[in-house]
Amino acid sequence: MKATAKAHTNIALIKYWGKRDEALILPTNSSLSLTLDGFFTTTTVDFQANLTRDQFMLDDKPVEGESYQRVSNFLDIIRTMAGKENLYATVHSKNDVPTAAGFASSASGFAALAAAGTKAIGMQLDNQELSRLTRQGSGSASRSIYGGFAEWEMGDKTDGSDSFAVPVAPAQHWDIRVAAVVLSSTVKKVSSRAGMKRTVETSPFYSGWIDSIPKDLREIKDAIKTKDFEKTGSIAEANCLKMHATTLAANPPFTYWHDTTMRVMQTVQEMKEKGIPAYFTIDAGPNVKVLYLPEDEGKVKETLRTIPGVTDVILSKPGQGISYL
Ligand code: DP6
Repeated sequence: MKATAKAHTNIALIKYWGKRDEALILPTNSSLSLTLDGFFTTTTVDFQANLTRDQFMLDDKPVEGESYQRVSNFLDIIRTMAGKENLYATVHSKNDVPTAAGFASSASGFAALAAAGTKAIGMQLDNQELSRLTRQGSGSASRSIYGGFAEWEMGDKTDGSDSFAVPVAPAQHWDIRVAAVVLSSTVKKVSSRAGMKRTVETSPFYSGWIDSIPKDLREIKDAIKTKDFEKTGSIAEANCLKMHATTLAANPPFTYWHDTTMRVMQTVQEMKEKGIPAYFTIDAGPNVKVLYLPEDEGKVKETLRTIPGVTDVILSKPGQGISYL
């Protein structure tokens, strides 16, 4: 009982930042992302009757500890759904997500694991069911089921049955580009999981964040539909700054930014002033992602590459959703 699936990572334009239920991974706000072509995980799950525990290999190396536990706990959910509680698996994952690029490989990782795991155990889930399941591995992964633009609808039920991602527009709808700007120093001190928890519990700015989301979502979906790049980019940029503002007011306060993070943000602002439409967004780490249009690719890459403290710039197009190999 073996299956292989491939999933791409995604970058949030409207961020998921906060949980209302930590066990089921239910968010306090809806979010919206773009799936990226350049960054993906390929996972093979093989359920075998003779195994007494799961095995997890990442890039051909055995994994134990917390990461192993997250994978095995997620397989427990699949086993329960299938009614095969005592059937263990070997999981082989290959990450084509350069860790230095600061992308959460958990998004492509759990999406690929959910797709391969359910198929291997003999279930056939539709995308909605798959997204709902994937969410329980890592929230942002629920959006990686789809290519192009996807919205994770937060839902309001306590059992999470209405909390899953839906497609907004496919990858072919709009060729906008994302440059992942890699910084020389990328040590992440606060994980996204811990950071959002601290913010929800202690930041007085948190209610302002929540109140502002419905309007951001409404407007960015309009802008995506009409391919209005300036509007899409400015909403995404402002939404990112709001998310990061909540962390500064948390207790204890923290920020994901480094000096180079701010230098990149400043450079993006200068590009705009020179007439190159470019917008940044930042997740729970110091790296910056820059949105731009294909015709500006050369100038954008060159400008970002020459910022002191930047070691690499990795370019990506919109990517496809889950596929089975
Ligand atoms: C800042 O999906 O990594 O990237 O649900 O706890 O696994 P868990 O968190 P995760 O958080 C991602 C947060 C973010 C914004 C986003 O991707 O929407």
